[in-house]
Amino acid sequence: MSNSETTTSAGDRFPAGPPQGKTAPSGGSDVRAATSVGAPLVQAFDLAKTFDVSPPWLNRVLEGKPRLMLHAVDGVSFEIEKGKTLALVGESGCGKSTVARLLVGLYEPTRGGLTFDGQDAHAAFKTPRGRQLRRRIQMIFQDPYASLNPRWIVEDIVGEPLKEHGLITNEAELRARVGELLKSVGLSPLDMVKFPHQFSGGQRQRISIARALATEPEFLVCDEPTSALDVSVQAQVLNIMKDLQRERGLTYLFISHNLAVVRHVSDQVGVMYLGRLVELSDKQTLFANPKHPYTRMLLDAIPKMHDTGRARTPVQGEVPNPLSPPTGCTFHPRCPHVNDRCRAERPQLLSIQGVKIACHAVEEGRI
Ligand SMILES: Nc1ncnc2c1ncn2[C@@H]1O[C@H](COP(=O)(O)OP(=O)(O)OP(=O)(O)O)[C@@H](O)[C@H]1O
Ligand code: SF4
Ligand SMILES: [Mg+2]
Repeated sequence: MSNSETTTSAGDRFPAGPPQGKTAPSGGSDVRAATSVGAPLVQAFDLAKTFDVSPPWLNRVLEGKPRLMLHAVDGVSFEIEKGKTLALVGESGCGKSTVARLLVGLYEPTRGGLTFDGQDAHAAFKTPRGRQLRRRIQMIFQDPYASLNPRWIVEDIVGEPLKEHGLITNEAELRARVGELLKSVGLSPLDMVKFPHQFSGGQRQRISIARALATEPEFLVCDEPTSALDVSVQAQVLNIMKDLQRERGLTYLFISHNLAVVRHVSDQVGVMYLGRLVELSDKQTLFANPKHPYTRMLLDAIPKMHDTGRARTPVQGEVPNPLSPPTGCTFHPRCPHVNDRCRAERPQLLSIQGVKIACHAVEEGRI
């Protein structure tokens, strides 16, 4: 990532007051990664995931139906420096969650791979070392209610990873640590005796974050972590996440539909379309000078998001069926700059003026 921003200024904050009861996280280990900001922690290379969505064998035999393979992620490469945030954006079904699941080892890649802190992550996930690696990589999901066990009190929910990884066995120590974790996300240690249904949506997402932080991870994969929340609550949760990142040197992959959110939290932005990255750029460049026609279309959908004086192109058409993607550039049926080459030849992700772009028109200087 080329962005050199290492601190969070007031301008980075979402326009909301500090969360109620917010206190600074404690513990000397909280700053452990702050000294190593700069080196790539995560490197994905040609990451691909194909799902077999064929009809059952009998239907295929009797009705002559073919096998169907869905290329949910098809050759995605990026790197994320320690302490930085890469945001992934794109319309529904473009493969964002599949990338997230590949990064935390919930899916095995069909092709390509992932290195974490220099080691082959998917090879490590299969060995006893994988346990240690899973401790260092955690995920936060969109729906905090679905991801929290409704029959457990918060102490058990947040403390479970600590027990699971054998990090704390003493009950008193465990309670103290859970209390610290709750304080670090703006909740009270007294909340640990309550059940998830006794909290609001925003508070539940804070519990999810506290749980994700329990193992002192370095990398958090956040899949639409605030999409289910009201705007003001979203802002509080995002500010907590940014504070935690600064204090603990956390690295984020942050998935969001909301470009206003992406603009505030990210250092680098990857725009995905039908399983591939079409533009990968630092945040400032992407918002000030979006190059790919799809990126422009996404930004043009948001009034006053960026005003470059260029005529706006409203979002047109829909994402094609991933089981029968268009030939050449998969964006071509929706693109105002399409030509014959676009219909025939798939554009590669090329570095053009410091930005990675997959578009013939940009490569040819047509736009
Ligand atoms: N387990 C699965 N089996 C079959 N197909 C899947 C599976 N998971 C995802 N897909 C398909 O892969 C494609 C990418 O899905 P994915 O959930 O990664 O998209 P997304 O960008 O996260 O979308 P959204 O914004 O709606 O969450 C979609 O076409 C989806 O239907
Ligand atoms: S390659 Fe062609 S169709 Fe695809 S985005 Fe660029 S101009 Fe449009
Ligand atoms: Mg998703």
